[in-house]
Amino acid sequence: MLRILCLISCAMLMPSRADPGALLKLGMNFMNKAVKDAMAESQILEKMAAMANQPQSGVKPIKGMTGMKVKDVQPPIITLDFLPEVGIFQCVSTRITITGKSFIGGTMEITVVVNITATNRLQQNEETGLPMFQSEGCQIILVDVKTNLPSNMLPKVINKFLDSTLQKILPGLMCPAIDTVLEFVNQKWSHLTDPIPVGEAGSIKYVLTSTPVTTASYIEVDFSPIVQRQEGGTIALPEDGAALTVPEDYPAGSSQLVLSAAFFTAEFTLLQKSFDVDIKGKTIGKLPPHTTKTLSGFVSKVRKAYRKSLPLMTQIRISKSPKVTMKPGKSQLDLHGTVEMFAVSPKSGPSSMFVLETHFNLDIQYSLSEDKVLMATSMDKLLDLSVASSSIGSFKVKKLKEFLTNLLQEAFVPVINGVLEVGFPLPNFLGMKYGQSELAIVENALVVDLQTP
Ligand SMILES: *[C@@H]1O[C@H](CO)[C@@H](O)[C@H](O)[C@H]1NC(C)=O
Repeated sequence: MLRILCLISCAMLMPSRADPGALLKLGMNFMNKAVKDAMAESQILEKMAAMANQPQSGVKPIKGMTGMKVKDVQPPIITLDFLPEVGIFQCVSTRITITGKSFIGGTMEITVVVNITATNRLQQNEETGLPMFQSEGCQIILVDVKTNLPSNMLPKVINKFLDSTLQKILPGLMCPAIDTVLEFVNQKWSHLTDPIPVGEAGSIKYVLTSTPVTTASYIEVDFSPIVQRQEGGTIALPEDGAALTVPEDYPAGSSQLVLSAAFFTAEFTLLQKSFDVDIKGKTIGKLPPHTTKTLSGFVSKVRKAYRKSLPLMTQIRISKSPKVTMKPGKSQLDLHGTVEMFAVSPKSGPSSMFVLETHFNLDIQYSLSEDKVLMATSMDKLLDLSVASSSIGSFKVKKLKEFLTNLLQEAFVPVINGVLEVGFPLPNFLGMKYGQSELAIVENALVVDLQTP
């Protein structure tokens, strides 16, 4: 009974994992590269060789051997394996050659192959909130030993050297090397949660939703991105999207960044103010003149109100948060707002003719730069149009639809595309450059298939 109760209440106590707004799936190809880069950048081999030549405390000199030196450390073979729910198992296999003078006068050479193994536990740093690897259980395995001495010579000295000296020196030498490499990897996460500006409008911060999860084939980092306005206040991600998942149809070892449509909705909302556009002037692209005369062809009341043709001014105001939708291969931006049209008299200035309520959508095309996702839009459809108020008397809007659709494409869309040139920043981690990556639009999300150069 008690057990059943616990099962029920314990299940209820389990924190429900919030749906992430973005997630990162890091496969083995990516982790291999990250660790190899860290090995190279940390110059760990050079440091190890230098350290090995320092006098080691607590190590007795070998009887019968003088002038011991590390002659060579071969580039290591690094093998990584995912340990589900733990992190990464790391094996660094390297060949080290030590030389010295033997008591009989000749040069003695000992070459050992050692494997250094450790578990790199993946955690979330409590202070910084960043992902962090921490090594545990570092072990040195002597895989192979060769000397240039005849095998019947000095076996005792060699054995003693291996047993006491190498076993004493190597862990102290090699295990910090593993830690050093991990520090380099950890450092490359260090700007992950920094706010990244979106032009003057605000910033995006990729905050972790929870501790990263390791499975048998990848590491998953879930983000609850914070979309912050410049003047303060954050924009919540709408909770209408389905749970964000990693599409299954990518090859093993590959890595993806998945960005939800809800996250894009919040980012577009950040730019909403810049979507208010005033269209002025008579000439707009190849359209008929932007005048009351042209307009009167669609709304006859305009002709009655303005016998002499006047230039128009069209004010577009977006009244609701923009909404981004994504279906396989297609993404759209839904906009609700008002269109107010003015006749501009050279003497008395603009006078309002009518206000229309409208709902229309734009197609969105995505592309990538090194650190941003870029967007361009084009007019899709005017979905809804109605008269909200009119100073020229009531009229039917049906005939205006095509006129307005063309006006939006020619005069509104270019302004939006100019605003969108700012791009939306992508997470900054492990030196990732996004320029060569591929994009796919799936249900409710944009997938960036990360290329590891
Ligand atoms: C040492 O590492 C190498 C390379 O990863 C591996 O092939 C070998 O099996 C390892 N040997 C032992 C004894 O762990």
